[in-house]
Amino acid sequence: MTAPTPPSSPRVRGDRGSFVVAIDGPAASGKSSTAQWVAQRLGFRHVDSGALYRAATAVALSRAGESFDEPVALAGADEITLRPVEHSFVPVWRGAEMEEMIRAPEVTRQVSRVAQMHGVRQWVNAHVRLAAEGQHVVVDGRDIGTVVFPHADLKVFLIADPWERARRRLTQRHGRAPSDAEIADETERLVQRDSKDATQTVQAKDAILIDTTYLTQAEQVERIVSLARVFEGGESAPDADPARG
Ligand code: CDP
Repeated sequence: MTAPTPPSSPRVRGDRGSFVVAIDGPAASGKSSTAQWVAQRLGFRHVDSGALYRAATAVALSRAGESFDEPVALAGADEITLRPVEHSFVPVWRGAEMEEMIRAPEVTRQVSRVAQMHGVRQWVNAHVRLAAEGQHVVVDGRDIGTVVFPHADLKVFLIADPWERARRRLTQRHGRAPSDAEIADETERLVQRDSKDATQTVQAKDAILIDTTYLTQAEQVERIVSLARVFEGGESAPDADPARG
């Protein structure tokens, strides 16, 4: 019944006693809020890798303005720590939680450049793995199921129509229904960021694709929670990629 899974298995369960749910997808596909809810429902911890890229960007901007390079970004990143808060972790810099700072528009404009820096990617990956060590976690990002946790127990790739992603992001940001012109502007920004992030935004072969365009947040959370329960129970997963031979 409990025979150890061979190390070559594509899903190595119980690695150091942890269960990892990886949620990847493009900008504003709802990864973070979904991951947070899923973590709460399952009693897992949520680790938001994007928040770390944003934190490194925010510190680099405040140290050197827009002209910062990789050594500046790395020196700044070294000053950031992760603080466990309820079901999640928040980046902390100089004793203060960074949540507001990392959502600033200039951070969103610069973050894709920082995310291309090899050293920064190593720094984020190390922190994410450390935060997840020995824990049941839901981790969201772009490359969690491919690079950070290639043996995650459950991998989900979230997509949604860009217009719908833009509409949701603006509604969340402003707390009101955006106009079509606002959505069109935001759609353009999202599509540009998707293209800058394209190299690392990769759907793992064994990830389950969920298109959330016509789903409510509660529905998408429910789907992932149900999948996690099936995977945790050790039942075989639905075939994520029927085209595979
Ligand atoms: O929530 P949103 O889609 O706006 O982005 P995020 O998850 O906060 O990530 C911010 C940025 O970090 C992305 O635009 C990517 O450039 C980068 N990122 C990445 O390269 N790899 C990850 N695993 C997570 C984020």
